[in-house]
Amino acid sequence: MSRRMRVGVIFGGRSVEHEISLISARSVMGAINPECFEVVPIGVTKDGRWLTSGDPLRLLQQDTRGEGAGRAGVRPMLPGLSGSQSVKPAGPRAASSAGSEEGASGSGSLDVVFPLVHGIYGEDGTLQGLLEMADLPYVGAGVLGSALGMDKDVSRRLFAHHGLPVVATRRIGRNEWSREGPSFWQSTIVSEIGLPCFVKPAGSGSSVGVSKVASAAALTSAVEMAFEYDRKVLVERAVEAREIEVAVLGNDDPAASVPGEVVPCGEFYDYQAKYLKESQLLVPAPLEAAKAEEARRLALEAFRALELAGMARVDLFLDRANGQFYINEINTLPGFTPVSMYPRLWEASGLSYRDLVSRLISLALERYNQHKLLKTSYSPSG
Ligand SMILES: Nc1ncnc2c1ncn2[C@@H]1O[C@H](COP(=O)(O)OP(=O)(O)O)[C@@H](O)[C@H]1O
Ligand SMILES: [Mg+2]
Repeated sequence: MSRRMRVGVIFGGRSVEHEISLISARSVMGAINPECFEVVPIGVTKDGRWLTSGDPLRLLQQDTRGEGAGRAGVRPMLPGLSGSQSVKPAGPRAASSAGSEEGASGSGSLDVVFPLVHGIYGEDGTLQGLLEMADLPYVGAGVLGSALGMDKDVSRRLFAHHGLPVVATRRIGRNEWSREGPSFWQSTIVSEIGLPCFVKPAGSGSSVGVSKVASAAALTSAVEMAFEYDRKVLVERAVEAREIEVAVLGNDDPAASVPGEVVPCGEFYDYQAKYLKESQLLVPAPLEAAKAEEARRLALEAFRALELAGMARVDLFLDRANGQFYINEINTLPGFTPVSMYPRLWEASGLSYRDLVSRLISLALERYNQHKLLKTSYSPSG
């Protein structure tokens, strides 16, 4: 009998979204079909140590710095990558022919990895790079797509390049902010972007560091706060908008779900409104058929513009004043609990949570196998 595939689920990590990652991971690990897959939990502490034995999820839930893990963690490590273990990743082909189950979780080879680390060092291409180097198939966008999706500045430039609608944005680097001084920036932002505006770090998530600014005087503290999370900050025109989200699934031929709508309970969809208060998720979004279709089309174009793979949630603004859509951002690792928007949108589109997880794993294997066909050596003939 062929053994089950070993799926490494990586969670936690060195980001402000560590706790959110633990919630997503618990759901995914609970939903992975045990008849086909064996789950190997891999936790990353807030200080970057990797926990690969025992119960990493419980350890991180009890103690987010991973201190309770004692010396169980090393940095950075994957099963099969540490110096003491010379275990080769099996790869998907080996998986179907291997004869027996491996031993304790955390040891032995992995067949595929489901990275569930949000934010920096997880969703931004760094973890994906590590997995590429380890020759492991993994769920979701590759190195390039992950890095692009994490950078709201570069992704927005690519959307604009592809003719997709984006709101007026001014990018500010740390150095130019200090060099020019607050009064220069106040007058520049007021004339280029106008008030109110939104200030955000180029590469954060969960609304951390994001603020709505109503006066020129309030700009300086908002920008300084955003600079605590990234060396690049965006200032955007504030759109009075409905927030529409579309789930995209696939590799070269992606599919878009029905759109959903977020109705934030606060002034905007900030951290509190996302996780601590009762914001509403409407699935499907109450949209006219033509508008829903437009949202799906834009989501697919945005997914292709960033050369993504596997999954992404595309967030749009629907301007209440003129009915126009803008692409706000793409999340290559959206929240993944059963009540999160991404799985709910697929549920409403006819794909259950468990089948979604299985589908993402097969998309990971498909992409890995396509890459394996590429030549890595060249011998000129003649
Ligand atoms: N230009 C904008 N106009 C109106 N609302 C905005 C704008 N930018 C951000 N917001 C509000 O702030 C929230 C978080 O901003 P977003 O750019 O999506 O950051 P994050 O990646 O942290 O989710 C959005 O969901 C929305 O409610
Ligand atoms: Mg957002």
